[in-house]
Amino acid sequence: MDIVVLISGRGSNLEAIAQAYSTGKIKGEIKLVISNRKEARGLKTAEKFRIKGEFVDPSIFENREEYDRFLVDRIKKEKPDLVVLAGYMRILSDNFIKTFEGKLINIHPSLTPAFKGLKAQKQAIEYGAKFSGCTVHFVTRDLDAGPVIVQAVVPITLDDTEESLTEKILEYEHRVYPQAIKWISENRVKINGRKVIVEGA
Ligand code: GRF
Repeated sequence: MDIVVLISGRGSNLEAIAQAYSTGKIKGEIKLVISNRKEARGLKTAEKFRIKGEFVDPSIFENREEYDRFLVDRIKKEKPDLVVLAGYMRILSDNFIKTFEGKLINIHPSLTPAFKGLKAQKQAIEYGAKFSGCTVHFVTRDLDAGPVIVQAVVPITLDDTEESLTEKILEYEHRVYPQAIKWISENRVKINGRKVIVEGA
């Protein structure tokens, strides 16, 4: 299954996914990595795996709609089966979401619908939650609230800080994100309204 990955920064999820492709766990190709930040470390990761990486500068576009329209055209040229958001820190326009509906996924570092939005790990610590985790979901217009494909639960201990929890959750992100993409590539993931069925899982 061919994918395009959108990033903004560190790119550790991109790395986990690229690893799964390069070892043949997922069949197909990462056709392109797009970043909205020039200095994103993930662009270096793309280079390391010999994946085409492109920085698309938001400042040269009039507004979000124009930027996203450019992205849609650019992504379509690669004819991906799936568009993967991996730490992409921009809100997507409705048109973008509609264009790739059902073929657009994201990972969020909490058990949605808890702790949506920015700094989800800090929110969980401050709330005093005993568990958090990560969620791979289809992207809809509701931020971090699309149909859930898979979640991993991570216990929060009293000595956890935002940093330690982030690290613990990240370890699970790196397992579940490639797993979810693999399931989709095997055509085992079906959406039925809000419910996602993973056949054989
Ligand atoms: C991850 O925590 C992911 O859940 C969130 O953004 C972070 C991206 O990290 N959406 P990385 O760039 O993949 O290392």
